[in-house]
Amino acid sequence: MKKDFLTLQDFNKEEIVSFLDRTQELKHMRKEGIAHYPLKGKTLGMIFNKPSTRTRISFEVGMFDLGGHSLFLSSDQLQLKRGESLQDSARVLSRYLDGILIRTFDHDDVEELARHATVPVINGLTDLNHPVQVLSDLFTIREKRGHLDNLKVAYVGDGNNLTYSWIIAASILDFQLAVSSPPDFQTVRPRGINNTHLLEFIEDPLEGVRGADVIYTDVWVSMGQEESDQKIMSLQKYQINKQLVEAAKEDALVMHCLPAHRGEEITSEILDGTQSVVFDQAENRLHTQKSILEKLLSD
Ligand code: CP
Ligand code: NVA
Repeated sequence: MKKDFLTLQDFNKEEIVSFLDRTQELKHMRKEGIAHYPLKGKTLGMIFNKPSTRTRISFEVGMFDLGGHSLFLSSDQLQLKRGESLQDSARVLSRYLDGILIRTFDHDDVEELARHATVPVINGLTDLNHPVQVLSDLFTIREKRGHLDNLKVAYVGDGNNLTYSWIIAASILDFQLAVSSPPDFQTVRPRGINNTHLLEFIEDPLEGVRGADVIYTDVWVSMGQEESDQKIMSLQKYQINKQLVEAAKEDALVMHCLPAHRGEEITSEILDGTQSVVFDQAENRLHTQKSILEKLLSD
Protein backbone atom coordinates (compact mmCIF):
# COMPACT_ATOMS: atom_id res chain seq x y z
CA MET A 1 0.00 0.00 0.00
CA LYS A 2 1.28 3.49 -0.85
CA LYS A 3 2.26 5.75 2.01
CA ASP A 4 1.78 9.53 1.87
CA PHE A 5 3.60 12.23 3.85
CA LEU A 6 0.94 14.89 4.36
CA THR A 7 1.53 15.60 8.04
CA LEU A 8 3.83 14.24 10.76
CA GLN A 9 0.66 12.64 12.16
CA ASP A 10 0.97 10.10 9.33
CA PHE A 11 3.83 8.56 11.37
CA ASN A 12 4.40 7.34 14.91
CA LYS A 13 7.34 8.19 17.12
CA GLU A 14 9.30 5.11 16.10
CA GLU A 15 8.86 5.89 12.39
CA ILE A 16 9.92 9.49 12.88
CA VAL A 17 13.02 8.40 14.77
CA SER A 18 13.84 5.96 11.98
CA PHE A 19 13.68 8.81 9.42
CA LEU A 20 16.13 10.73 11.62
CA ASP A 21 18.48 7.74 11.94
CA ARG A 22 18.42 7.16 8.19
CA THR A 23 19.03 10.85 7.56
CA GLN A 24 22.20 10.62 9.59
CA GLU A 25 23.40 7.67 7.49
CA LEU A 26 22.49 9.36 4.20
CA LYS A 27 24.24 12.57 5.26
CA HIS A 28 27.37 10.61 6.13
CA MET A 29 27.27 8.70 2.83
CA ARG A 30 26.97 11.91 0.81
CA LYS A 31 29.87 13.52 2.67
CA GLU A 32 31.99 10.39 2.04
CA GLY A 33 30.99 10.24 -1.64
CA ILE A 34 29.40 6.81 -1.25
CA ALA A 35 27.07 6.21 -4.20
CA HIS A 36 23.57 4.96 -3.38
CA TYR A 37 20.95 4.73 -6.12
CA PRO A 38 17.82 3.05 -4.72
CA LEU A 39 15.54 5.24 -6.87
CA LYS A 40 17.11 4.42 -10.23
CA GLY A 41 14.41 4.65 -12.87
CA LYS A 42 11.96 6.49 -10.56
CA THR A 43 10.50 9.94 -11.16
CA LEU A 44 9.13 12.47 -8.69
CA GLY A 45 6.75 15.14 -10.04
CA MET A 46 6.94 18.38 -8.05
CA ILE A 47 3.89 20.65 -8.30
CA PHE A 48 4.58 24.17 -7.06
CA ASN A 49 1.77 26.64 -6.61
CA LYS A 50 3.95 28.96 -4.50
CA PRO A 51 7.61 30.01 -4.76
CA SER A 52 10.39 27.93 -3.21
CA THR A 53 14.17 27.88 -2.99
CA ARG A 54 14.99 25.23 -0.40
CA THR A 55 12.14 22.77 -0.89
CA ARG A 56 12.36 22.68 -4.65
CA ILE A 57 16.14 22.46 -4.87
CA SER A 58 16.62 19.99 -2.03
CA PHE A 59 13.98 17.61 -3.38
CA GLU A 60 15.35 17.91 -6.89
CA VAL A 61 18.94 17.28 -5.81
CA GLY A 62 17.75 14.57 -3.43
CA MET A 63 16.11 12.63 -6.25
CA PHE A 64 19.26 13.01 -8.36
CA ASP A 65 21.47 11.80 -5.48
CA LEU A 66 19.30 8.69 -5.07
CA GLY A 67 19.59 7.84 -8.76
CA GLY A 68 16.12 9.08 -9.67
CA HIS A 69 14.73 11.92 -11.69
CA SER A 70 12.47 14.86 -10.85
CA LEU A 71 10.11 17.02 -12.87
CA PHE A 72 9.36 20.58 -11.81
CA LEU A 73 5.69 21.18 -12.54
CA SER A 74 4.74 24.81 -12.16
CA SER A 75 1.00 24.84 -11.56
CA ASP A 76 0.70 27.72 -14.06
CA GLN A 77 1.78 25.35 -16.81
CA LEU A 78 -0.55 22.48 -15.92
CA GLN A 79 -4.15 22.02 -17.03
CA LEU A 80 -5.02 22.35 -13.33
CA LYS A 81 -4.73 26.07 -13.99
CA ARG A 82 -7.51 25.76 -16.61
CA GLY A 83 -9.81 23.85 -14.32
CA GLU A 84 -8.84 20.20 -14.74
CA SER A 85 -9.85 18.59 -11.46
CA LEU A 86 -7.38 17.47 -8.81
CA GLN A 87 -8.97 14.05 -9.00
CA ASP A 88 -8.30 13.64 -12.72
CA SER A 89 -4.85 15.20 -12.42
CA ALA A 90 -3.96 12.77 -9.62
CA ARG A 91 -5.08 9.79 -11.66
CA VAL A 92 -3.17 10.89 -14.76
CA LEU A 93 0.02 11.85 -12.92
CA SER A 94 0.01 8.49 -11.14
CA ARG A 95 0.29 6.78 -14.53
CA TYR A 96 3.64 8.49 -15.20
CA LEU A 97 5.20 9.20 -11.84
CA ASP A 98 6.44 7.24 -8.83
CA GLY A 99 5.71 10.04 -6.38
CA ILE A 100 4.22 13.53 -6.25
CA LEU A 101 5.44 16.46 -4.16
CA ILE A 102 3.02 19.36 -3.88
CA ARG A 103 3.31 22.87 -2.42
CA THR A 104 0.06 24.77 -2.46
CA PHE A 105 -2.35 26.94 -0.46
CA ASP A 106 -5.28 24.86 0.74
CA HIS A 107 -4.34 21.78 2.73
CA ASP A 108 -7.56 20.10 1.60
CA ASP A 109 -6.20 20.13 -1.96
CA VAL A 110 -3.23 18.05 -0.89
CA GLU A 111 -5.53 15.58 0.83
CA GLU A 112 -7.72 15.42 -2.26
CA LEU A 113 -4.71 14.81 -4.49
CA ALA A 114 -3.48 12.06 -2.16
CA ARG A 115 -6.91 10.41 -2.06
CA HIS A 116 -6.94 9.99 -5.81
CA ALA A 117 -3.24 9.39 -6.51
CA THR A 118 -2.06 5.81 -6.53
CA VAL A 119 1.54 6.90 -5.87
CA PRO A 120 2.84 8.51 -2.65
CA VAL A 121 2.11 12.21 -2.16
CA ILE A 122 4.41 14.44 -0.13
CA ASN A 123 3.32 17.78 1.32
CA GLY A 124 5.92 20.43 0.48
CA LEU A 125 4.00 23.12 2.45
CA THR A 126 0.42 24.25 2.66
CA ASP A 127 -1.13 27.23 4.45
CA LEU A 128 -1.74 24.84 7.35
CA ASN A 129 1.29 22.59 7.63
CA HIS A 130 4.98 22.22 6.66
CA PRO A 131 5.87 18.75 7.92
CA VAL A 132 9.03 18.07 5.89
CA GLN A 133 10.56 21.25 7.32
CA VAL A 134 9.90 20.27 10.91
CA LEU A 135 11.13 16.69 10.41
CA SER A 136 14.36 18.16 9.11
CA ASP A 137 14.54 20.62 12.00
CA LEU A 138 14.17 17.77 14.47
CA PHE A 139 17.17 16.18 12.78
CA THR A 140 19.16 19.42 13.13
CA ILE A 141 18.34 19.69 16.82
CA ARG A 142 19.27 16.06 17.43
CA GLU A 143 22.49 16.53 15.45
CA LYS A 144 23.48 19.55 17.54
CA ARG A 145 22.33 18.26 20.92
CA GLY A 146 22.74 14.50 20.46
CA HIS A 147 19.15 13.77 21.53
CA LEU A 148 15.63 15.18 21.63
CA ASP A 149 14.82 14.16 25.18
CA ASN A 150 13.90 16.72 27.82
CA LEU A 151 14.38 19.61 25.44
CA LYS A 152 12.36 22.77 25.43
CA VAL A 153 11.60 24.41 22.08
CA ALA A 154 10.20 27.95 22.14
CA TYR A 155 8.34 29.02 19.01
CA VAL A 156 8.09 32.80 18.87
CA GLY A 157 6.21 34.83 16.28
CA ASP A 158 3.31 34.53 13.88
CA GLY A 159 1.11 31.50 14.51
CA ASN A 160 1.33 29.77 11.14
CA ASN A 161 1.98 26.53 9.27
CA LEU A 162 5.33 26.05 11.01
CA THR A 163 3.77 26.58 14.44
CA TYR A 164 1.09 24.03 13.59
CA SER A 165 3.71 21.49 12.53
CA TRP A 166 5.74 22.09 15.70
CA ILE A 167 2.70 21.41 17.87
CA ILE A 168 2.20 18.10 16.07
CA ALA A 169 5.90 17.20 16.39
CA ALA A 170 5.87 17.91 20.14
CA SER A 171 2.76 15.79 20.62
CA ILE A 172 4.39 12.80 18.92
CA LEU A 173 7.91 13.08 20.30
CA ASP A 174 7.06 14.36 23.80
CA PHE A 175 9.38 17.33 24.03
CA GLN A 176 8.38 20.57 25.69
CA LEU A 177 7.01 23.28 23.38
CA ALA A 178 6.13 26.84 24.34
CA VAL A 179 4.35 28.87 21.68
CA SER A 180 4.40 32.64 21.95
CA SER A 181 2.26 34.51 19.43
CA PRO A 182 0.11 37.63 19.73
CA PRO A 183 -3.52 36.83 20.65
CA ASP A 184 -4.80 37.82 17.19
CA PHE A 185 -2.20 35.77 15.35
CA GLN A 186 -2.38 32.34 16.92
CA THR A 187 -2.04 29.23 14.79
CA VAL A 188 -4.92 26.90 14.00
CA ARG A 189 -4.81 24.19 16.67
CA PRO A 190 -4.36 20.63 15.38
CA ARG A 191 -7.42 18.55 16.23
CA GLY A 192 -7.13 16.30 19.27
CA ILE A 193 -4.01 17.94 20.71
CA ASN A 194 -4.57 19.64 24.06
CA ASN A 195 -2.48 21.84 26.30
CA THR A 196 -0.41 19.76 28.66
CA HIS A 197 2.61 20.43 30.79
CA LEU A 198 4.57 19.79 27.56
CA LEU A 199 2.56 22.16 25.36
CA GLU A 200 2.00 25.68 26.56
CA PHE A 201 0.78 28.87 24.91
CA ILE A 202 2.60 31.73 26.59
CA GLU A 203 1.76 35.13 25.19
CA ASP A 204 4.82 36.90 26.57
CA PRO A 205 7.84 35.82 24.45
CA LEU A 206 10.34 36.60 27.22
CA GLU A 207 8.43 34.18 29.40
CA GLY A 208 8.09 31.65 26.56
CA VAL A 209 11.82 31.38 25.89
CA ARG A 210 12.76 31.00 29.55
CA GLY A 211 14.78 27.79 29.91
CA ALA A 212 14.50 27.07 26.17
CA ASP A 213 17.10 24.93 24.39
CA VAL A 214 15.84 26.09 21.00
CA ILE A 215 14.32 29.39 19.89
CA TYR A 216 12.46 29.05 16.62
CA THR A 217 10.88 31.70 14.46
CA ASP A 218 9.46 32.22 10.98
CA VAL A 219 8.36 35.12 8.80
CA TRP A 220 5.53 37.33 10.01
CA VAL A 221 3.76 37.28 6.65
CA SER A 222 3.54 33.87 5.02
CA MET A 223 3.13 33.23 1.31
CA GLY A 224 -0.35 34.13 0.18
CA GLN A 225 -1.10 36.33 3.21
CA GLU A 226 -1.81 40.04 3.02
CA GLU A 227 0.73 42.18 4.85
CA SER A 228 -0.99 44.45 7.36
CA ASP A 229 0.45 47.21 9.52
CA GLN A 230 -1.62 45.98 12.44
CA LYS A 231 -0.02 42.54 12.23
CA ILE A 232 3.51 43.91 11.97
CA MET A 233 2.84 46.19 14.96
CA SER A 234 1.46 43.34 17.07
CA LEU A 235 4.52 41.24 16.34
CA GLN A 236 7.18 43.81 17.25
CA LYS A 237 7.87 42.38 20.70
CA TYR A 238 8.18 38.87 19.17
CA GLN A 239 11.36 39.74 17.28
CA ILE A 240 14.29 37.38 17.95
CA ASN A 241 16.94 39.78 19.13
CA LYS A 242 19.74 39.89 21.68
CA GLN A 243 17.41 40.57 24.60
CA LEU A 244 15.17 37.63 23.74
CA VAL A 245 18.05 35.25 23.11
CA GLU A 246 19.59 36.20 26.44
CA ALA A 247 16.37 35.23 28.18
CA ALA A 248 16.71 31.60 27.00
CA LYS A 249 19.37 29.06 28.01
CA GLU A 250 22.88 30.36 27.49
CA ASP A 251 23.62 27.92 24.67
CA ALA A 252 20.15 27.89 23.09
CA LEU A 253 20.07 27.16 19.35
CA VAL A 254 18.45 29.81 17.18
CA MET A 255 16.48 28.38 14.28
CA HIS A 256 14.55 29.79 11.34
CA CYS A 257 13.22 27.78 8.42
CA LEU A 258 14.16 30.61 6.01
CA PRO A 259 13.60 32.72 4.00
CA ALA A 260 14.17 35.35 6.71
CA HIS A 261 13.17 38.98 6.75
CA ARG A 262 16.20 40.37 8.50
CA GLY A 263 15.30 43.19 10.87
CA GLU A 264 11.71 42.03 11.09
CA GLU A 265 11.19 38.65 12.87
CA ILE A 266 14.94 38.30 13.57
CA THR A 267 17.89 40.66 13.69
CA SER A 268 20.90 40.11 11.44
CA GLU A 269 23.07 40.07 14.55
CA ILE A 270 21.26 36.96 15.79
CA LEU A 271 20.74 35.29 12.39
CA ASP A 272 24.49 35.53 11.71
CA GLY A 273 25.46 35.00 15.35
CA THR A 274 27.17 32.05 17.03
CA GLN A 275 23.94 30.47 18.30
CA SER A 276 22.27 30.43 14.89
CA VAL A 277 22.12 27.11 13.04
CA VAL A 278 19.95 28.30 10.16
CA PHE A 279 22.24 27.29 7.33
CA ASP A 280 22.80 23.80 8.75
CA GLN A 281 19.02 23.64 9.00
CA ALA A 282 18.72 24.52 5.32
CA GLU A 283 21.33 21.91 4.35
CA ASN A 284 19.62 19.23 6.38
CA ARG A 285 16.47 19.59 4.30
CA LEU A 286 18.34 17.69 1.59
CA HIS A 287 19.45 14.78 3.78
CA THR A 288 16.13 14.44 5.59
CA GLN A 289 14.05 14.51 2.45
CA LYS A 290 16.27 11.83 0.93
CA SER A 291 15.24 9.60 3.83
CA ILE A 292 11.58 10.33 3.02
CA LEU A 293 12.01 9.73 -0.71
CA GLU A 294 13.92 6.51 -0.14
CA LYS A 295 11.27 5.17 2.21
CA LEU A 296 8.18 6.22 0.29
CA LEU A 297 9.32 5.66 -3.29
CA SER A 298 11.27 2.44 -2.92
CA ASP A 299 8.85 0.51 -0.70
N1 CP B 1 11.94 26.72 4.31
C1 CP B 1 11.40 26.52 3.09
O1 CP B 1 10.50 25.70 2.87
O2 CP B 1 11.99 27.28 2.12
P1 CP B 1 11.47 27.48 0.63
O3 CP B 1 10.20 28.28 0.69
O4 CP B 1 12.59 28.23 -0.04
O5 CP B 1 11.23 26.14 0.00
N1 NVA C 1 5.37 30.30 6.95
C1 NVA C 1 6.13 30.47 5.74
C2 NVA C 1 7.12 29.35 5.58
C3 NVA C 1 8.02 29.50 4.38
C4 NVA C 1 8.94 28.34 4.25
C5 NVA C 1 5.20 30.54 4.55
O1 NVA C 1 4.24 29.75 4.49
O2 NVA C 1 5.41 31.39 3.67
